[in-house]
Amino acid sequence: MKKAKDYIIFPLDVSSFTEAEKLVELLSMHVGVFKIGLELFIKCGHQIVNLINKKKECKIFLDLKLHDIPETVFRAMKIVAGLNVFFTTVHCGESERMLKAAADGCMGKVNVLGVTVLTSVSSSDIVNAGFKKEFCDDMHKLVLKRAHMIKKAGCKGIVCSGLEIKAVRRAMGDEFIIVTPGIRPLWDNLQKDDQKRVTTPAQAVSAGADYIVIGRPIKDAVNPADAAVKIAAEIE
Ligand code: C5P
Repeated sequence: MKKAKDYIIFPLDVSSFTEAEKLVELLSMHVGVFKIGLELFIKCGHQIVNLINKKKECKIFLDLKLHDIPETVFRAMKIVAGLNVFFTTVHCGESERMLKAAADGCMGKVNVLGVTVLTSVSSSDIVNAGFKKEFCDDMHKLVLKRAHMIKKAGCKGIVCSGLEIKAVRRAMGDEFIIVTPGIRPLWDNLQKDDQKRVTTPAQAVSAGADYIVIGRPIKDAVNPADAAVKIAAEIE
């Protein structure tokens, strides 16, 4: 059965193998998934993937947020499919063909998630990027449109903010995986950093998130393991 800690995806947002290894040691009993982003993957990609895989305690989310022509995405995802990771990401972008290429490249070996609208993006950013008025007035509509694209393309779920979870769950059903970043616990004073659309761990999970991505409130805590335990207790 899924435990409260299994909901927690901890991003290893550090620039060296040594720092990442320390965080893996410290947190593997307290989180369910380690997310490896671009910074760490560019620095020491396979080394850190192998370390987490050897420990066998946590799943891996290889967050590459790919966005390229379908053939390039397909070929990159074929390599990702051999790395024994649980999640990977592609930007929803403009074309369903690219999303299908991502799903096809992974050959069912990795759960491909579509990044809908980054939680660091606000509605004024959407206006400035030149989106249609209906999407500027209501960002839910853009997230839902992209969720439908992702599902149709054969990917497994999306990354979206806590503010859109209920609408996505209602529209896409229970099997569709929802991963939510931009999480800030009340005890961290809802400090947003560069995040714009934030929710608490409890709000996100009760709205229907399958996983939450929570980084700085754990990493910057005086005791990161205690912070993760506190978040799991809130989810429970
Ligand atoms: O909790 P914190 O703000 O530190 O989390 C930052 C992490 O969340 C980064 O690894 C970033 O890539 C990830 N993130 C994401 N999707 C978003 C926003 C942030 O995966 N829409």
